[in-house]
Amino acid sequence: IGIKDGDVIGVLGFDTDFDSNSAEIWGPFLKEDKWDIATVMWNKMIEILPREIDLLTMFINKENKNCLRLADNLHFIKESEEIILRFERFYTDKLQDIPIVELSSDYYRDMQLLHDKVFPNTYYSGNKIIERLNDHRKVFVDKKDNKLMGYIYVEVNPAFGEGSIEFFAVDEPQRGKGIGNKLLTMALKWLFSFDSVDGITLCVNSANKKALNLYKAVGFEQEYQLCYFTKEC
Ligand SMILES: CC(C)(COP(=O)(O)OP(=O)(O)OC[C@H]1O[C@@H](n2cnc3c(N)ncnc32)[C@H](O)[C@@H]1OP(=O)(O)O)[C@@H](O)C(=O)NCCC(=O)NCCS
Repeated sequence: IGIKDGDVIGVLGFDTDFDSNSAEIWGPFLKEDKWDIATVMWNKMIEILPREIDLLTMFINKENKNCLRLADNLHFIKESEEIILRFERFYTDKLQDIPIVELSSDYYRDMQLLHDKVFPNTYYSGNKIIERLNDHRKVFVDKKDNKLMGYIYVEVNPAFGEGSIEFFAVDEPQRGKGIGNKLLTMALKWLFSFDSVDGITLCVNSANKKALNLYKAVGFEQEYQLCYFTKEC
């Protein structure tokens, strides 16, 4: 924290991940007229960063001109733009009335193959998703003629009123037929069956127009836009 005359005037932090040797930067959060201390705080933070960290990442709101300028001055590289979307509980009335179909063990292998093909380098493999399944972590599917058309993997944490759509894919030849819409609908119906969940927030790469249009068609609304930056150190 930055302190002046006994008042906190700025906050800057980081969250380390020693699996990937990276640190996500939080902030700096500064009052508009206090941005001159941003670099001082930054340099202090770098001094205490663990030595193992070799990559810094930042998610900056597209409207946050001061932070964007700082990232530029520090030679961060812009990797992507992400859009934060939210679906509010009161929209559930507008969801299609369709049955929820849960993944059964005879389709585990098909689901794993599809997941690993569409998301080859991600945080959970198809096998890991299967291992994680329980009352609060589910895969819903669409099937036709004994073939898996698509799946959606969702998690809920009722104690915190939080739910998330983790992965979602439709087999390529089957896309554009409304299967994605169906899967999203199943996921939302299940997530909102937990009373503590008021809304679902998710992040989608702004270049993924198909997914973005689909989320909006189902009832998600854009909350804000973030820029994702990285820097090797
Ligand atoms: C994103 C994804 C899941 C969408 O699945 P999908 O089954 O193609 O989705 P839908 O068919 O419901 O909707 C896609 C489009 O088809 C259109 N569509 C739906 N039913 C249709 C029908 N019967 N006839 C013609 N078009 C139709 C929709 O209007 C939509 O059009 P739009 O993109 O112009 O808005 C799929 O593209 C995918 O697996 N992508 C790779 C993985 C991915 O990006 N996952 C999301 C990560 S955030």
